[in-house]
Amino acid sequence: MKWRKLRTFLLTVLVLCLIPATRYYQIDEPLLRYFKGTGEVDPLALHLSGEFVENNLGTQQNADGSVTVRMIAQQYLFVPHCILVPAGVPIHLRITSADAVHALAFSGTEYNVKVLPGTISATRLEFSRPGEYKTVCREFCGAGHYAMRSELKVVPREQFRVLRAGERGSCAAQ
Ligand code: CUA
Repeated sequence: MKWRKLRTFLLTVLVLCLIPATRYYQIDEPLLRYFKGTGEVDPLALHLSGEFVENNLGTQQNADGSVTVRMIAQQYLFVPHCILVPAGVPIHLRITSADAVHALAFSGTEYNVKVLPGTISATRLEFSRPGEYKTVCREFCGAGHYAMRSELKVVPREQFRVLRAGERGSCAAQ
C-alpha cells in the first residue's frame, strides 16, 4: 500500500517536471535576453507597449521634413500591409520582427533590410520619384515565406503634406 502511494507521488512529480521541460522554449528566451541585456525590444510584447504598438506603426512626419516609418515583420506579413511615403524625402525606417528572421526588400531597388526578433533595424531610405513598389521578404522564414508580400506607395511630397496625420500612416485612407 505504502509503495503504491510512493509510486503515485513520484509519477506526479515526474509529470510536473515534464510540463515545463517541454515548454522550455517559452521560458528561456525572455529569460536569456534579460540576463544578456542585449534585447532592445521584446518580440513577445510588441503589441503591448513601447515603440511598436499598433497606433505608432506606419509613416510619421518629423519636424525636420523627414519621415519615420515603423514596421513589424512577422510570419507571414509586414505590418502595416501598405506604407505611404513622400518622394524625395529622407525616410528613417525602423523595423523589428515578432518571430523569425526576415529581410525586407523593395523590388526594383537595392534596399534589403535584415530584420531580427529582439532588435530594431534602423535604415535610411529615399525614393526620388513617386511610384509603387512591391515589398518582399528575402530571407526564408517558413512555410509562408513566398507569400510574404506587401506594398510601398511613394507619392509626391505636396500630396503627402496635405494629408491629415491619420491618413499618412498607411495606404488605408487612400
Ligand atoms: Cu519573412 Cu521570409
